[in-house]
Amino acid sequence: MSLIELDSVHKIYPLGKTEVHAVKGVTFGIEAGDFVSIAGPSGSGKSTILNMIGCIDTPTEGTVKIKDTVTSSLKDKQITDLRHDVLGFIFQNFNLIPVLNVYENIEFPVLLGKNKGDKQQRKEWIDYLIKEVGLEEWRDHKPNELSGGQRQRVAIARALVTKPVIVLADEPTANLDSKTGENIIELMKKMNKEFGTTFIFSTHDRTIVDIADHVIRLKDGTIESNSRG
Ligand SMILES: Nc1ncnc2c1ncn2[C@@H]1O[C@H](COP(=O)(O)OP(=O)(O)OP(=O)(O)O)[C@@H](O)[C@H]1O
Ligand SMILES: [Mg+2]
Repeated sequence: MSLIELDSVHKIYPLGKTEVHAVKGVTFGIEAGDFVSIAGPSGSGKSTILNMIGCIDTPTEGTVKIKDTVTSSLKDKQITDLRHDVLGFIFQNFNLIPVLNVYENIEFPVLLGKNKGDKQQRKEWIDYLIKEVGLEEWRDHKPNELSGGQRQRVAIARALVTKPVIVLADEPTANLDSKTGENIIELMKKMNKEFGTTFIFSTHDRTIVDIADHVIRLKDGTIESNSRG
């Protein structure tokens, strides 16, 4: 059993009187601790697949399993729990909260959850993450005072704060210059090694694909290649 299994997954979007067959029978597995890149040109289905793994969208046909559970069979409450306990997201546009500083943005998902823990322990863990992503000097700053790369670092720390098993990142480097983008992927890889978190990121940037140890290449909604190693 793999941590994540997609079996003959199709996604068809209605589009006016026609439809778009965005994902056409995709099957693959992702193991716990994998550092995965979903690569492929624009429109190949990367975001659609990440959204289905993240339970933001459901397959039209086929199944997505996380820890051997078919996600489309879960009730809303169970999906909320899965999103909170198992999944972390890093969005392309960061989705940081403008009125909160770096520390508060990272703390936010913990406060939303039911397991807030001890305040001092929480502070130590958040301070540790802030140090790991290299933002110690920016701890009290608001997102609008940060560069794109720094904001993405906050987003990574925020995704990790609840200690998720899986972190999904849709084009986490899209708004960054190539050097900063590489640094961000290296940072994700460091977190993957340190915590054993499974990372799945999409990209159409060939240079950062190489940092992944599992590459799934898409073309027109199908798998062109799938290689681990
Ligand atoms: N909500 C939607 N309604 C209709 N069609 C959609 C929808 N979302 C995606 N599509 C279509 O599905 C196909 C795959 O889109 P998807 O966003 O998954 O591609 P992508 O690989 O993430 O592309 P990009 O690199 O540009 O982000 C495209 O043809 C797109 O137009
Ligand atoms: Mg996309």
